[in-house]
Amino acid sequence: MDLYQAIRGRRSIRKFKTDPVPKDVVLKVLDAANWAPSGVNLQQWKFYVVSGSKRDEIAASYGCVTERNYPPAGERSAQQETFLTWAKNYGGAPFIIVATMPRDEQQPRRRKMHLESVSAAFQNLLLAAHAEGLGTCWMTGPLADEAGLTEILHLPADEEIVALTPLGYPDQAGEEKPRLDPKLQEKVIWVE
Ligand SMILES: Cc1cc2nc3c(=O)[nH]c(=O)nc-3n(C[C@H](O)[C@H](O)[C@H](O)COP(=O)(O)O)c2cc1C
Repeated sequence: MDLYQAIRGRRSIRKFKTDPVPKDVVLKVLDAANWAPSGVNLQQWKFYVVSGSKRDEIAASYGCVTERNYPPAGERSAQQETFLTWAKNYGGAPFIIVATMPRDEQQPRRRKMHLESVSAAFQNLLLAAHAEGLGTCWMTGPLADEAGLTEILHLPADEEIVALTPLGYPDQAGEEKPRLDPKLQEKVIWVE
């Protein structure tokens, strides 16, 4: 798939087929992530590929944090109910991928460098997944229960989570969101 086509065609997917994703395809996508640029070439990302009961525990965690911020059952909007259904099961995706970076809280500039490096890798992951016909959704909302996720995954104390994504074959087209400044008149500032 052409790069520009991949960039334009990728959408956040929140409903997945139950079809299994072959391990070699998952690794191909993660290899693309692994080719991202990184601060000081530290390649400071790690990817936890989560399935089975651990996947279910992670989904339950997001369901809980989402539900906590919503009105009680019976008082929710249809949109809230739809979002909650997605949150509670990550749309049924067979895998959830959790990206982490080194914990460097004492050095804000290094922390920023780690965050940007892992984000670059994560975007590669999303685009490569799309090129493979897979769906993803960049997610940080689940970090409202980062402590819970850390416990579920038994993450080492020197790692922190950057983002999560479900990974699976999409069962929806995904909605194209209009660009806020399609002609780039405000977002691009030419400086001479
Ligand atoms: C940093 C970041 C955090 C996000 N967190 C969530 C999230 O927690 N839950 C969710 O459903 N979508 C999340 N999204 C997906 C955005 O809602 C989505 O990218 C945006 O609406 C544009 O849609 P598109 O990805 O289809 O272009 C996140 C995206 C980014 C980049």
